[in-house]
Amino acid sequence: MSGMKEALGVLICVGILSYVLITQFNQVPVEQNVPVVAFEATAPDTAGPVSYFVNNCSRCHGPADNAYAEFTKPRRGEEMKKFIVLMADGPALAPIDPAGVEMQYHLHNAMLDKAPYAWIDPTQTDLIAGELIEGTTVYLNTGTERIKAAITDDYRFVLPKRNGTIELERDGKKQVLK
Ligand code: HEC
Repeated sequence: MSGMKEALGVLICVGILSYVLITQFNQVPVEQNVPVVAFEATAPDTAGPVSYFVNNCSRCHGPADNAYAEFTKPRRGEEMKKFIVLMADGPALAPIDPAGVEMQYHLHNAMLDKAPYAWIDPTQTDLIAGELIEGTTVYLNTGTERIKAAITDDYRFVLPKRNGTIELERDGKKQVLK
């Protein structure tokens, strides 16, 4: 009989523990507990994929946040990559290397999908800085606060150099930058 009582006791404990865990960690989204602070600074001059697109492609294809609007069935995959190379060498007169093509490919997919997008400049050492598609909000989540990036030129962002996770949001779509 006492074995039954013990089992019941364990069951109740597990029940209470589950309740506490579920209410603590499931009901309240983690980020609501993390205060948001805005970072104030001027973003450094970067030469990334968004500034390349704005300087060389936008005049024919529109701004990055609404590019290729007139293409009802835009090319994707390898076909799109081929066009990026053709266009860079041709009308844009701004050839790019294979790494640049990959960056444009990634940017183009985000433009067409209306997805959040940010690129981090690997040459920046004192700050976290880079470029985004206008409408994307960039946060650095340190665990104790979410630092909202300052934006310059509509597409250049800057954050302090701190450990944490880079989180992106655009029109309700969220993404963690890897
Ligand atoms: C002078 C105007 C002009 C410039 C500058 C220009 N393009 Fe184009 N682009 C076009 C035209 C016109 C087409 C349509 C060609 C076709 O469908 O045969 C096109 C088509 C494309 C397509 C294929 C769209 C689709 O899905 O069918 C891509 C991708 C593209 N351009 C990328 C770029 C990139 C990247 C740049 C900058 C490096 C750029 N273009 C610069 C005029 C331009």
